[in-house]
Amino acid sequence: MVYGRRGSGPKVEFEGTTPYADYTHIETLLSLQTPRTQSPAEYSFIVATQVMELLFTLLRHEWETARTQLDADDVRAATRTLRRSIGAQDVLISSWQLLATLTPNEFGEFRDAFGEASGFQSYGYRHLEFLLGNKRPGMVCPHAEMPSVVADLEKQLAEPSLDDAAKAAVARRGTSWLEIYSGSKQPDLYELGEVLMEVAERFIRWRQLHLTAVWRVMGDKPGSGGSAGASWLAKTVHDRPFPDLWAVRNEL
Ligand code: HEM
Repeated sequence: MVYGRRGSGPKVEFEGTTPYADYTHIETLLSLQTPRTQSPAEYSFIVATQVMELLFTLLRHEWETARTQLDADDVRAATRTLRRSIGAQDVLISSWQLLATLTPNEFGEFRDAFGEASGFQSYGYRHLEFLLGNKRPGMVCPHAEMPSVVADLEKQLAEPSLDDAAKAAVARRGTSWLEIYSGSKQPDLYELGEVLMEVAERFIRWRQLHLTAVWRVMGDKPGSGGSAGASWLAKTVHDRPFPDLWAVRNEL
């Protein structure tokens, strides 16, 4: 069958692959979903995990950019970058919908097939925790045999967090979060504080949805990563990034 361009329609003839396939690496992307069982639910599980990993990496880029902009005292640009990242966080949160119908029985169909794999071993997620200021050096350990991952995480640990960068930018302007929130004439810093709160709130919400998904599909059983499972996650689920911004709420 010969396909041709009709009227004002798009171009349909290309040599080799399409420019779209080249630009998006779609063939590579679509070759990466390799379920280990026949369970239909496993495909959703893999896609959900991969979508979240992509969004973790996107957020890392955005938050590192925002940190650089804060270091350069460009508060407006940093606020704009953080606002854009909130869109990615909203998609990240709604990605849980991909697992919204997963039952314990369906999870059980492929649970053994992934062995000791656990999101706990996600270095994309760990970068985000470190960037937000939740720096637990022990969390680098699972990657000990992956030198480039260790180097990258250790660099993140050594660098100022987004929280440090925001506080330093505020200090260089000769003020504090309390003054800013008490009506000082620094509206750009007030906006920065509020967008950081929006980031923090969404990050906590992702953790909460993760924990409720865990309760739903595996109860209080131990995790594949070797932890106690839900009770281990519950210890940190409400850790709040940017503690000074939350503390200011007590003073107003
Ligand atoms: C319903 C499916 C899921 C279940 C039952 C589940 C279960 C668990 C459990 C029990 C842990 C604790 C560590 C362990 O012992 O394994 C954990 C950690 C983790 N999971 Fe999941 N998980 C699910 C889906 C996901 C997805 C889709 C992601 C996205 C990448 C993810 C990311 C993580 C991360 C980042 C951690 C570490 C959290 C931290 O260090 O505080 N999980 N998961």
